[in-house]
Amino acid sequence: METSLKMDVPVQHSLLDSTNQNIISRPIDRVEGPLKVSGQARYAAEFKLPGMAHGVLVGAQIGKGSVARIDAGGVEAMAGVLGVVTDFDLFLRNSAQGMATEAPCQGVREIAYFGQPIALVVATTFEQARHAAQALEVTYEKGEGRFDFDAEQGKAQPKDSTLSSQGDIDAALAQAHGRVDGVWTTPSQTSAAMEPHASLAHWEGDSLVLYGSYQMLSTNRMQLADALGLDIEKVRIRAHYVGGGFGAKLGIAAESVAAALAAKALGRPVRVVMTRQQVFETTVRRSNTRQRVRLAADTDGRLTAVAHETLTANLDGEDFSEPVSAATKFLYGGANRTFGNEIVRMDQVLSGSMRAPGEAVGMLALEGAMDELAEKLGLDPVELRLRNLPDRHPGSDLPFSSRSLAECLTIGARDFGWPRRNRQPAATLDGEWWIGLGMAAAARSNMLIKSSARVSLQPDGRALVETDMTDIGTGTYTVLAQITAELLGLRVEDVAVHLGDTTFPPASGSGGSFGAASAGSSVYLACEKLREAIAGQLGGDVDTLVLSDGMARMGNISVPLADLDTGPLDATATIEPGETGENFVQAAFGAHFAEVGVNAHTGEVRVRRMESTFAAGRILNEKTATSQCYGGIVFGIGGALTEEMIHDTRHGAIVNRDLAEYHLPVNADVPQLKVRFLEERDHAANPLLAKGIGELGISGAGAALANAVYNACGVRVRDFPITLDKLIADLPDLP
Ligand code: MOS
Repeated sequence: METSLKMDVPVQHSLLDSTNQNIISRPIDRVEGPLKVSGQARYAAEFKLPGMAHGVLVGAQIGKGSVARIDAGGVEAMAGVLGVVTDFDLFLRNSAQGMATEAPCQGVREIAYFGQPIALVVATTFEQARHAAQALEVTYEKGEGRFDFDAEQGKAQPKDSTLSSQGDIDAALAQAHGRVDGVWTTPSQTSAAMEPHASLAHWEGDSLVLYGSYQMLSTNRMQLADALGLDIEKVRIRAHYVGGGFGAKLGIAAESVAAALAAKALGRPVRVVMTRQQVFETTVRRSNTRQRVRLAADTDGRLTAVAHETLTANLDGEDFSEPVSAATKFLYGGANRTFGNEIVRMDQVLSGSMRAPGEAVGMLALEGAMDELAEKLGLDPVELRLRNLPDRHPGSDLPFSSRSLAECLTIGARDFGWPRRNRQPAATLDGEWWIGLGMAAAARSNMLIKSSARVSLQPDGRALVETDMTDIGTGTYTVLAQITAELLGLRVEDVAVHLGDTTFPPASGSGGSFGAASAGSSVYLACEKLREAIAGQLGGDVDTLVLSDGMARMGNISVPLADLDTGPLDATATIEPGETGENFVQAAFGAHFAEVGVNAHTGEVRVRRMESTFAAGRILNEKTATSQCYGGIVFGIGGALTEEMIHDTRHGAIVNRDLAEYHLPVNADVPQLKVRFLEERDHAANPLLAKGIGELGISGAGAALANAVYNACGVRVRDFPITLDKLIADLPDLP
């Protein structure tokens, strides 16, 4: 059986609100948890195939120019070396945006950025391959590169599709009772997922099987087929477990194409695992940004003007620019509005999507500016936000599908003890620590992506879910099992979920916070279809069907699911975005409240307390959802206080290309976070009535900290991260 739903009109009723199994939303443990903690969940690099060889990528040691010559002769004679593959122009540009990679071409050896892969050295063992890769002789012709953002930013080009303007921003600013006009900067960042990019390729005749670590398998399969010049049917990707992605695995990266080419050339399986340094150097980064935000308000504290204009960087020819004002466009009202991005062309590794592209860094500026405006107006920052929540989208006039932002702000403030905050900066000391409280709103756009799944009822009465959806650590296995168990009246352990194989129906993949809702909706629709089929077998109306405890009941009939005719009893379902995606503003919302201490002598910032209240439609599993938000908030702490990828302005090399020098918040930097979800349903989003949460936690989190730092010590830092060197000179003297 097949079924599909295009979201053209809101869903009136979700079965999940009437099946009463008490399984959906419950904070159950990850179903694959035991496999992960016992090492049985195999990631790409953990598969072993007979005759498998090991490849190590070689990256360019110049930032701009060309490869004049690669002399492979020397390393080919080294112990264990099986071959050197250098014909790699095809994967020099991998796109993180889900676009096709460039088609294979010969003879071009232009270097676009430092570290760009130019060769793969393959040997019998990994150690031999690594040794030989380091010895490979490459001659370069150096070119002139653009490595200094400050020097290049004057040449920024507008990205026309981002420009929008209404009213007269300058007039509104001139007439304002209170105004803010400031520039915020955020640095280049990387996501560096715990599992580095890894691929194991082997060929079955003229068909490729690739064990990889990617987020969106059906797209990745097309990219790989395109890069290799194959029909899509000839490519199969398997990624049953993925150790994080955050955007850097949305598109294929160099190691997959390299492994596939080498395996073909050598006639044996080849595994390529990136080093941590290569993850930094050659996978997607978040561009640094320079953001100008202007806000104007009247005497009632109502915004009259909102402007958010941004510079980001990218390689020549790349269209992506961080959509920094994504949330600014709909979060607050104000009749006069201006938005726009400009791109600065830099010879640095590709800029693309990194967790909450747009909101993650855009809200640092917007929510910082709101804090400054509140102070100028003499208003509480929560109150300023409450006064400026628009009834409809301030630009398009579309309605919100659901928005519990006011509730998040007020409930969050109450629970955090916000009313006890001293509005005066540098007014509270705890020993040698200045203590401050700060807050910010959270918002992240909600999306639905076409997604398919097959659910089948097995002869033993259990269910099997199959889709090429990925679980990148987010809880996909668990929530898909919960949806199925809830709708078919099964225990969670009686649902097997098989993911991460392109032989299964194509799913949305994981990204943009759309994974759980998109893939989950396809599973929902398949289960709905199965319920109809079961009702048909019982000879009655599906509305009178009750499925629970593995039994189908209708009137006074009661039949174990295992006794149904299951030969076969399956349904393949597809959810598709439709007009509700255009007719409503869809976003998840929240509010972050933070308490920090700033050391009066050193300027060191310590997060003491952080509480976040979110509303994101139905929560599918409170535990995995909470973990998603924890992760996002920790990411936000990093963005506010520690993370910064430094590019050498002389040749473009990344200076701190490992986790020793690229500073992340570790456990000691993060207090026990508190996350709470408000009850909400979103009928325009999807049949689950759920919205995305994967990127909600990071959105606004860092701004709450920056605002708390100001409240603590009276120093405003608009250039992230807020490291102690930016505070120390301006710290107040201890009394
Ligand atoms: Mo996300 S940046 O779409 O993986």
